[in-house]
Amino acid sequence: MQNKFESLELGQFIPLHYHHNMLNDPHRMKGFKQAIDWVVKPGAKVLELGGGTGVQSFFAAQKAQKVYCVERNPELVEAARKLIKKNTNGDRIDVIQADAMYYLPPEPVDVVICEMLHTGLLREKQMPVINAFKKRYLEKFGGPLPVFVPEASIQAIQPIQQDFNFEGFNAPTILFQDPYSIQARSQNLSDPEIFQFLTYAEPFNPNCSWDGKIMITQSGQLNALRLITKNILALNMETCSTQDWYTQYIVFPLAKPLTVSKGDKVAICFNYQGGAPLNALSDSLEVTKINDIKCQSVNELNILYAGSVENLANIAQSQQSKIAYSKVQKNSN
Ligand SMILES: C[S@@+](CC[C@H](N)C(=O)[O-])C[C@H]1O[C@@H](n2cnc3c(N)ncnc32)[C@H](O)[C@@H]1O
Repeated sequence: MQNKFESLELGQFIPLHYHHNMLNDPHRMKGFKQAIDWVVKPGAKVLELGGGTGVQSFFAAQKAQKVYCVERNPELVEAARKLIKKNTNGDRIDVIQADAMYYLPPEPVDVVICEMLHTGLLREKQMPVINAFKKRYLEKFGGPLPVFVPEASIQAIQPIQQDFNFEGFNAPTILFQDPYSIQARSQNLSDPEIFQFLTYAEPFNPNCSWDGKIMITQSGQLNALRLITKNILALNMETCSTQDWYTQYIVFPLAKPLTVSKGDKVAICFNYQGGAPLNALSDSLEVTKINDIKCQSVNELNILYAGSVENLANIAQSQQSKIAYSKVQKNSN
């Protein structure tokens, strides 16, 4: 059982060697470098919340006039200062040891970079930190809010059959998966279903929840759910494209696996606070099979399924246009 202090601090201290691994992740580095290059205009003022080694602040400093890089962990503050000194335009970056929950820059900024992202927006404090920042910022400086990197996160859930047998050792535990490689030990039992789309500059619910149904498209043993978080790091208005980055997938084993057949529907329900421990999802998770759909004809099932795929595409598309629209409005104001 976690005490209050542990749960408040959770996800906020990432060891230095893990930061070195993050530097070594090409999807992450290339994605953020490109996004920051799109968003930061020459002479801009930038704030980074949770600077780590300072790499994102370094990307921003190649165009920005001033970068405030806020980091709470003293070991990382020291590492960032050392590394930034070795790099071009490091003199444009101030590394400040402070808690991002309370910090405000001395002047308005054009861009805020905040990568406290964990799959499911669990553990790390992306949602509470950004919500608290927006409130303080608007109180002190008024609008408009800066542009956020990432701009938005889209979350989805996918029923899967997972092989939890490790050389004969059966261990149905939480697993992380590389989103950029094929997962031979997982079998997808349906397409992913989006349960949340949040745009950081807009007001958002501090909770992540879903109460919905998914159509099974492949028969099997439903023994786990895959949680997917895709982050839209930035939107390029000129090319109408986005720079995206997936955090690692998380596989959550189900307490009671279900045997499912193609055409079955499963009801999935969960609710947790952004930044909560990993087990907050499992603790609130309910997955049940709905049998009433069985009596429908194959044609009806196809229509239902096609509808859900179409919906997914429409949701993603309409949300992306929503961001694009609000950006066009901001730019024209
Ligand atoms: C996932 S790391 C990202 C680091 C860096 N931005 C990067 O992209 O490499 C999140 C960072 O946020 C810092 N952090 C977490 N909570 C914080 C808080 N409340 N105030 C300031 N920094 C915080 C952590 O110490 C960590 O360095």
